[in-house]
Amino acid sequence: MERHVQRFLNKLSFASITIATFILLALLIRTPQTCVPPTASSNHIRFPRSTCDSSARSYVSLEKKNRRLWLTRSFRSQVSSYSDFFRSLQSVGLLRNHSKVLCVSAGAGHEVMALSEIGISDVTGVELVDSPPLVSRADPHNLPFFDEAFDLAFSAHLSEALFPWRFAAEMERTVRRGGACVVAVEECGDQEVRDIVALFRNSKLLGAQNVTLIGLRMTRITMRVKLAS
Ligand SMILES: *[C@@H]1O[C@H](CO)[C@@H](O)[C@H](O)[C@H]1NC(C)=O
Ligand SMILES: *[C@@H]1O[C@H](CO)[C@@H](O)[C@H](O)[C@H]1NC(C)=O
Repeated sequence: MERHVQRFLNKLSFASITIATFILLALLIRTPQTCVPPTASSNHIRFPRSTCDSSARSYVSLEKKNRRLWLTRSFRSQVSSYSDFFRSLQSVGLLRNHSKVLCVSAGAGHEVMALSEIGISDVTGVELVDSPPLVSRADPHNLPFFDEAFDLAFSAHLSEALFPWRFAAEMERTVRRGGACVVAVEECGDQEVRDIVALFRNSKLLGAQNVTLIGLRMTRITMRVKLAS
């Protein structure tokens, strides 16, 4: 390349670096216009607040927050749907008032509340993200419970598991022999039921039934953990 062309290019890149530096500095110094100062006149729309709003937020206690959530119509209707679902397990003798029950991937705890409301006193709910006091944090693929600690394990989220076989194995491990594993999956036919039951290597199928749960058409699969492996 010719000498003077090279020199010109060098100057050009030096100039660009200088300009870029100045722009960066200017951006750093200037307050972004999207930031509404806390003292902004009251006819300003206050929501949504920007991340640069440093004014104190009112603290809402967990108890208060929960009470609000639990009274919402959608929460109540899901709880009542789960209650019906579990009553049907009571009526076939799989669930008793003194049963120790584990709900895996329990979300915000609808099923935990439903079980409590129908009279089951010992209910544990786990999910990757906790929702105290109904649901504690635990990885469904690696449950922090002893072998055979529960009488019944339930999940409506087996099909969303990252490793379904591992999810199933953990449900099975934590249920006593002769206890039950119950899953609710998207409505399916016999072959899919067989595929799901095959994930539970130490259990046998008790029954599969199409049900409506939280407004969805689902298939309830009940299995009994074998007495001897
Ligand atoms: C189970 O608990 C429910 C609700 O508390 C109660 O109505 C029912 O009688 C109890 N069943 C038994 C067998 O104790
Ligand atoms: C559930 O419904 C599906 C159709 O959506 C059907 O193929 C299946 O046989 C039904 N299962 C039971 C247990 O009735």
